[in-house]
Amino acid sequence: PFDVKLASSGQVLRVPAGRTVIQVLAEQGIDVPYSCEEGVCGTCLTRVLDGVPDHRDLYLTEEEQAANDQFTPCCSRAKTSLLVLDI
Ligand code: FES
Repeated sequence: PFDVKLASSGQVLRVPAGRTVIQVLAEQGIDVPYSCEEGVCGTCLTRVLDGVPDHRDLYLTEEEQAANDQFTPCCSRAKTSLLVLDI
């Protein structure tokens, strides 16, 4: 599990194993646009302001993944205990 923090509201949400960031956000009424849910299309791409994503997508290049400033919340997770999202 890890937490995501929404930069705009300061809200912190727990993302348990087996749930995606997209699902956890949707439960709070925060809808991130998505399509494939498999890390292929890039529709859900979200800016990361702090923390290190655990990239599980096939959309970003290795360089883009290494920059740690965006991730695909439909499938990617976190290597750090907290990710701050530009939402
Ligand atoms: Fe397609 Fe996330 S919905 S990459």
